[in-house]
Amino acid sequence: MTNKKEIKNICCIGAGYVGGPTMAVIADKCPHIQIDVVDLNNERISSWNNDDLNLLPIYEPGLAEIVGRCRGKNLHFSNLIEEKIGTADMVFISVNTPTKKKGIGAGKASDLKWVESCARQVAKFSKGYTIVVEKSTLPVRTAETIMSILYGSMSDKIHKNQTASFEVLSNPEFLAEGTAIKDLENPDRVLIGGANNDAMELLSEIYRNWVPKEKILKTNIWSSELAKLTANAFLAQRISSINSISALCEATGADIREVSRAIGSDTRIGSKFLDSGPGFGGSCFKKDILNLVYLAEYFGLPEVANFWEEVVNINHWHQHRISKLIVKKLLGTVVGKKICILGFAFKANTNDTRESSSITICKDLIDEGAILFIHDPQVSSAQIYSALEKKENYQIKEIKEQNDFLKYEGQWCFEENIYNCSEGADAIVVLTEWEEYSLIDWKDISKRMRKPSWVFDSRSIISQQEVIKANLNFWRIGDGTNI
Ligand SMILES: NC(=O)c1ccc[n+]([C@@H]2O[C@H](COP(=O)([O-])OP(=O)(O)OC[C@H]3O[C@@H](n4cnc5c(N)ncnc54)[C@H](O)[C@@H]3O)[C@@H](O)[C@H]2O)c1
Repeated sequence: MTNKKEIKNICCIGAGYVGGPTMAVIADKCPHIQIDVVDLNNERISSWNNDDLNLLPIYEPGLAEIVGRCRGKNLHFSNLIEEKIGTADMVFISVNTPTKKKGIGAGKASDLKWVESCARQVAKFSKGYTIVVEKSTLPVRTAETIMSILYGSMSDKIHKNQTASFEVLSNPEFLAEGTAIKDLENPDRVLIGGANNDAMELLSEIYRNWVPKEKILKTNIWSSELAKLTANAFLAQRISSINSISALCEATGADIREVSRAIGSDTRIGSKFLDSGPGFGGSCFKKDILNLVYLAEYFGLPEVANFWEEVVNINHWHQHRISKLIVKKLLGTVVGKKICILGFAFKANTNDTRESSSITICKDLIDEGAILFIHDPQVSSAQIYSALEKKENYQIKEIKEQNDFLKYEGQWCFEENIYNCSEGADAIVVLTEWEEYSLIDWKDISKRMRKPSWVFDSRSIISQQEVIKANLNFWRIGDGTNI
């Protein structure tokens, strides 16, 4: 039974891409609630507390303004995990759930060790009645694991004369990076899964401060967990579908933009998520589909598993397809050729590079011997370094002296200025749809490049006319009109 009338203190475990922005928006909309975001990562916490709001650990349009308004008032970032769990009425678990690297289910199932350790922390440090909310994306029936840890601890606490009781809810997050604040302020829906109406009502009350009641959906806990995985699988499937057709457009003389417009006007299909690009990235799509594949296999449904696994397989194929066609257009070899990569984030308006198609495409080109100069307005050189270095037994060197770059075959460097980046380059490859790339002065760039020079637009954001007027060769995704 719920013995709480309202939520006054929230603790969110995990100050990442979900925990940080989600709690910032709740704090902004609910000045009557004190919110503590806690994390093991001290560096991340110090960045959240940086006086310079441009140096927050996560870039999202609108986020810095909200943090500026609420931080120190009702929004606090710290590593005081034990203390803040102890004073919370409601604890959100918003930690990472990556794909397991070893053991049963390796390569597909989610690694739940961080979620499990959170449940143990809550079990140990909570006081009184605590509502535990799964914000992380989790396999169906994870709530059972959390409950068993929490309920297991209750007998311990009673033994020590401490009272504690729990309720577990699922409240998956549907925000998209790059538009996180907009999505949180005006969500299509808020999903709350659970078995206890009072606890669900208390969580719903928080959202009702800014979300209309009819957009708050209540389901059983297993439907809520499965709905999140399914939503990501459907979204990724649309990207893989349109990308597969882009290859067919290039072979047949069709244009993917025209095909997208034509099919998107059908209200049964709808126009969103029909832009062809270099393949889906981000921390969620691949891991969540693989998780779904694992669950289907586990429950003896191999046909269902194979169906969804193909969405991931075709995404890999599509990323490599782009690197291969770049090599082909550059006369069959990129050895010792300078290629500028515009965009390393997995999409515009975020600094997140996890699973970015740029990583695969850059690695392919480096393997082929190209010299890469990489630009991104929000991703740091250090982030690129760690993304490219992550592949096991892979030696990628960073160029330290750009003056004499031609001798650095199969290496890369970071460049802050797009125009410097193009100096002496054989090709420019646009991989992220940052707005500034659509504003490039191609005449200026053309003068700086080595001929024959190419522009590859994997995002359809460059004006074909301007590039061709500037005497540059042009390729763009899904455009078969020049065959
Ligand atoms: N990134 C997205 O766009 C997005 C969208 C919807 C849902 N999700 C889901 O939300 C969850 C979090 O994703 P994210 O992108 O914010 O991850 P993230 O890696 O950016 O952040 C997770 C944070 O949790 C911290 N952490 C882990 N274990 C901890 C512990 N025991 N105590 C304290 N801190 C701990 C880590 O240090 C890290 O800072 C994942 O399950 C993800 O699938 C992500």
